[in-house]
Amino acid sequence: MKRLPSHIAVIMDGNGRWAKQQGQPRVYGHRHGVESVRQVTEACAELGVPWLTLYAFSTENWARPRTEVDALMSLLVETIKQEIDTLNKNNIRLQAIGDLAQLPSSTLEALQFAIDNTAANDRMTLVLALNYSARWEMVRAARLLAQRCVDGQLTPDAIDEQSFAAALTTAQMPDPELLIRTSGELRISNFLLWQLAYTELYFTQVFWPEFRKTHLYRAILDFQGRERRFGKISEQISG
Ligand code: FPP
Repeated sequence: MKRLPSHIAVIMDGNGRWAKQQGQPRVYGHRHGVESVRQVTEACAELGVPWLTLYAFSTENWARPRTEVDALMSLLVETIKQEIDTLNKNNIRLQAIGDLAQLPSSTLEALQFAIDNTAANDRMTLVLALNYSARWEMVRAARLLAQRCVDGQLTPDAIDEQSFAAALTTAQMPDPELLIRTSGELRISNFLLWQLAYTELYFTQVFWPEFRKTHLYRAILDFQGRERRFGKISEQISG
């Protein structure tokens, strides 16, 4: 309990393959994935992990069949509406990162309502990455900084890691210390590319709809067994 990650990020993968294994349509997997979202959020709150970011929809996911995209958007609205009370009861604040303006208006409205409604909660922050991609985010940051240069508020020489990080959608958050990806895929898939620079990566074969609290505990225990050197040598760390 003394070495919990301050921020866990999760690539929730394998809903479609899990559903296929069950002889069900892909959307069945997404629906069951909601229970895993609940479990992981609850476990993080119970343990005292202050930040949890879930990759719920990437900018590339729009290329999926229309029926699946529509079903995912409906599921998001339904889940967000359903869970507001639980979030408030557990003192959890909801936030979102991504190109939110491009979401369907019903999704955006439900999301904004939940964000506003939970804004004062301070036990833990649950961040949904929605219509998010790291390259989009970094291009957006470059544009913001360039505009500030044009406006005379900034000079190119003054741009450093700190000002770049401050122009990202995650400006107010610590970088993730642990990234979990389910379903056996070994990729980052355009997720938090800047922020993951020193994050410990954890991959599991478990499909997202089957991911439970015990799987999260295992990932955290694995994280706790690692030596994080941040470019230094072992002796400098233990010293
Ligand atoms: C990846 O599995 C999962 C997604 C693209 C969507 C994740 C969404 C949820 C779990 C539903 C609701 C979420 C919230 C936060 C309320 P995949 O479809 O890529 O699976 P596959 O790789 O097996 O095809």
